[in-house]
Amino acid sequence: MEIIRIPRIMQDTCKKYLLKGRSIGLVPTMGALHEGHLSLVKRARTENDISAVSIFINPTQFGPSEDLDRYPRDVENDIKKLRAQEVDILFLPDNLLMYPKGFVTYVEVTAISGKLCGAFRPGHFRGVATVVAKLLNIASPTRAYFGQKDFQQTVVIRRMAKDLDLDVQIVVCPTIREQDGLAMSSRNLYLDSRQRQAAAAIYKCLSAASEALRSGTASSAETKKIMREMLAGEPLITNIEYASVYDTNTLDEADQMQGEVLLAVAVRMGEVRLIDNTVVNL
Ligand code: PAJ
Repeated sequence: MEIIRIPRIMQDTCKKYLLKGRSIGLVPTMGALHEGHLSLVKRARTENDISAVSIFINPTQFGPSEDLDRYPRDVENDIKKLRAQEVDILFLPDNLLMYPKGFVTYVEVTAISGKLCGAFRPGHFRGVATVVAKLLNIASPTRAYFGQKDFQQTVVIRRMAKDLDLDVQIVVCPTIREQDGLAMSSRNLYLDSRQRQAAAAIYKCLSAASEALRSGTASSAETKKIMREMLAGEPLITNIEYASVYDTNTLDEADQMQGEVLLAVAVRMGEVRLIDNTVVNL
């Protein structure tokens, strides 16, 4: 595995592969890699000639009171995991090369970015869209891989790629879960053992709600009520930021119960913020 730290060198390397007619699959990450990330890596490997992974803890997507400083970092282990997957290129840039002095250009995907997580994390999706636009320009991948775990992120990135005519295929991969259903996340490392056990309530709530919707017995209002009651029943969940049924395209709360709908949840367990979702086909 080649480890590249300088954007310009990454760009030249990827261009050379493209000129030789090789396809490139890119998996952008912030590291502390788990099986969720690795599922994207495996998919990128099978679908492309060259697989590339980026690890960059992107400061512009963290708010001033968020967890940038304590975000888990474990590059040595990440490298071992990526070597084991036989990844071709690891892009590991540092902050000053991604955001050099004088950096002032941002990508804003309006409308979608202010909803759901965006309402609680102002500026978050502007940071995500900006860094992903940069990574796509640096690696010029044929395909870029993202997890459904961060559903809104996939909507924002798809929209950006379409609106800016980016020549890349955005591939969205299913959420990988722990045995009790908790969606894998680097932030799960923040949970103490009681919180970790209690966090299974999130998946239970999504499962119960999708069951209610599928059986045709629950309206959207009733489904939302089921979700909120189940989450509120777990004392270690200290705040429900949102929990409801949404339109998969607009991310507005859905009232039409047909086709695809999104059940999405964001909760806090003390300082830790957890999100999850599921798409139900009605
Ligand atoms: P990060 O949280 O490291 O996640 C990197 C990718 O892994 C994202 O596309 C995310 O949706 C996916 N992922 C995380 N947990 C997953 C799981 N349990 N199952 C499947 N996929 C999962 O998301 C980011 O980084 C950043 O916002 C980034 C896109 C890299 C931009 O900085």
